[in-house]
Amino acid sequence: MSLLGLSVEAKDLTKEFDSLAPLRSVSFKVNPGEFVALLGPSGCGKSTLLKMIAGLREPTRGKISVGEDGITSADKRVSYVFQDAYLLPWRKVLGNVTLPLELLGASKVEAEYKARKALERVGLIDFESYYPADLSGGMKMRVSLARSLVTEPNLLLLDEPFAALDEVTRLKLDQDLRDLWVESQMTVLFVTHSISEAAFLTDRIFMLSKKISGIRYEIENPLPKSRSMETRSDSRFGQLTQDLFSKFQELES
Ligand SMILES: Nc1ncnc2c1ncn2[C@@H]1O[C@H](COP(=O)(O)OP(=O)(O)OP(=O)(O)O)[C@@H](O)[C@H]1O
Ligand SMILES: [Mg+2]
Repeated sequence: MSLLGLSVEAKDLTKEFDSLAPLRSVSFKVNPGEFVALLGPSGCGKSTLLKMIAGLREPTRGKISVGEDGITSADKRVSYVFQDAYLLPWRKVLGNVTLPLELLGASKVEAEYKARKALERVGLIDFESYYPADLSGGMKMRVSLARSLVTEPNLLLLDEPFAALDEVTRLKLDQDLRDLWVESQMTVLFVTHSISEAAFLTDRIFMLSKKISGIRYEIENPLPKSRSMETRSDSRFGQLTQDLFSKFQELES
């Protein structure tokens, strides 16, 4: 798989809602092919930031560039994964995964071929003729992930996709997502509340603060590129999560 990652750059980005401005003059750069976490407490503006990157919300001021040019929400280079799987209950697994390609005008044969490849990548190839109602929560999220990968995006945006899952399923999906990223070249931005999830998954962590309405820290992850269950007992993982935890506390105190 060779999906070239897109850069994401924000300059002096502000988002205001009536009396509230969760993001004020925010600037950052994500390099092509990076895996970055947006970590911060509830209400600090993570989802708002992700939606603006996807072109689903307009900034009040400032600019976001994705790749060389700006982006629109219909751009097939970008995929967005929500906290809920949002599968169509009347379509089988295969039909849910072919949907983005159908909307882009692909033939049935091409859409089904690519959808099966995406289902294989998330370990669900044997479930293509199941209906969503017959899947577990973790399997539904895998289908959602396959649907986001089927267009071979250059930028994958995920908003707390695994937050509603039980812990073991979440750990497995974190591992799968990391492995998928390692074998691709796509850029990934991952929103989470979870310190350990940010530490395990990503290479750089943007820590957002409600107090300053923006990114307070950009932290490099010292862990090696390839991650596994053993990573979680690596002393660097322990140090990183401790460091993130104390910064988190400092920001909210
Ligand atoms: N459409 C909107 N209109 C008014 N206020 C909004 C709107 N969208 C978000 N907000 C406010 O902006 C702030 C940031 O919201 P956002 O959803 O980006 O936070 P978040 O960091 O994703 O939180 P959580 O972790 O709980 O999902 C919140 O105070 C929220 O109420
Ligand atoms: Mg949110």
